[in-house]
Amino acid sequence: MRTYLVTGGAGFIGSNYIHYMFRKYGDQIRIINVDKLTYAGNLENLKDIEDRDNYTFIRADICDSEAISKIFEENDIERVVHFAAESHVDRSIKNPEVFVKTNVLGTLVMLNAAKAAWELPDGSFKPDHKFLHVSTDEVYGSLEEDGGYFYETTPYAPHSPYSASKASSDMLVKAYMDTYHFPANITNCSNNYGPYQFPEKLIPLIINNALHGKKLPVYGDGKNVRDWLFVEDHCKGIDMVQEKGRLFETYNIGGHNERQNIQIIHIILDTLREMLSDSDPRRALVSDDLITYVEDRKGHDRRYAIAPDKIKAEVGWYPETKFEDGIRKTIAWYFEHEDWMKNVTSGDYQKYYEDMYSGR
Ligand code: NAD
Ligand code: DAU
Repeated sequence: MRTYLVTGGAGFIGSNYIHYMFRKYGDQIRIINVDKLTYAGNLENLKDIEDRDNYTFIRADICDSEAISKIFEENDIERVVHFAAESHVDRSIKNPEVFVKTNVLGTLVMLNAAKAAWELPDGSFKPDHKFLHVSTDEVYGSLEEDGGYFYETTPYAPHSPYSASKASSDMLVKAYMDTYHFPANITNCSNNYGPYQFPEKLIPLIINNALHGKKLPVYGDGKNVRDWLFVEDHCKGIDMVQEKGRLFETYNIGGHNERQNIQIIHIILDTLREMLSDSDPRRALVSDDLITYVEDRKGHDRRYAIAPDKIKAEVGWYPETKFEDGIRKTIAWYFEHEDWMKNVTSGDYQKYYEDMYSGR
């Protein structure tokens, strides 16, 4: 039975990935989920699979080399899928240090532990043992409004402390591949949306605020463009890259779904109005009047867009979910998980929200 080590599996994409993998492979695989459980990690995301015999959760910091090495010593890990990171751009602008620690040093710890466990005396690596580093399209910088795409060959030009830290971690993975022939892939993907996303990110924040009749903060002129990808499509892409992709290659994973932020907000408002019945008290709260233009994000990248040509040609992956379907599924999930949202927005979230938005 193949063993996967998933880092950051209690976060948004990681928990979706673990669900996806158990749906796809059932009892044929074993997953060890290593997560520090920061504000973004939530074991509620994994409630329905936590009792499986082929699933283990270990609370550990990826910067803790002893703890991580022990996991490799005690298990024959054949696949690493490395999600764990500080992931929110706005937080990185306020507090960059933890981004460098987790995203850069934590990735180095993961690489060293896997290398030590997998390297054979002649310097080659155990066959069929692979590391996949999950990264972002933000490493490529910002595109002009009127055209162009990010390709795997686009030079790195990160702007935020978050994207600079992710770019550094990508460079470390590339360095390990070039120097040691370490068996890895890098995937750089566009903005994900879907179930279990923490409401600091645009889509769940807008859904939650609209349902409570709270202001919908739009940074700048609202015309920044992101390329939205349904999270389940992303999880499928990661698995396909590990199984069908060429080792040592980078693959960009994008939704082919560019939208301005203000368009996203209007789609969410329209979809909420369609999905809420007239008798639902929340329907009266959902209003375009909640849209509030606020001070722009510092260094706000204008446009991201991926042409996912390489992954389509080499791996056969393409983004299957149309945005109109994905956003309905997402909103339906938030309707069905009101308690999840209540739990994550109590306590520390209130303080975060005040700090981030009161001055805007
Ligand atoms: P998230 O913030 O929802 O989850 C991150 C997880 O990592 C949490 O469970 C957290 O507890 C854990 N974690 C943080 N620091 C840790 C540490 N030091 N040790 C162990 N665990 C730690 O993030 P996400 O949105 O699921 O993103 C996952 C990965 O995908 C990240 O590497 C991110 O850079 C990348 N990515 C995300 C998106 C997106 O749209 N969300 C797009 C492109 C790439
Ligand atoms: O492109 C991939 C990246 O997508 C990932 O690497 C990051 O981990 C992920 O957080 C995401 O980064 P963004 O900064 O693009 O996502 P966010 O949801 O924070 O913002 C999306 C857009 O919406 C961006 O242009 C900023 C804007 N925005 C965001 C918030 C939270 C607003 O206008 N208002 C808001 O309140």
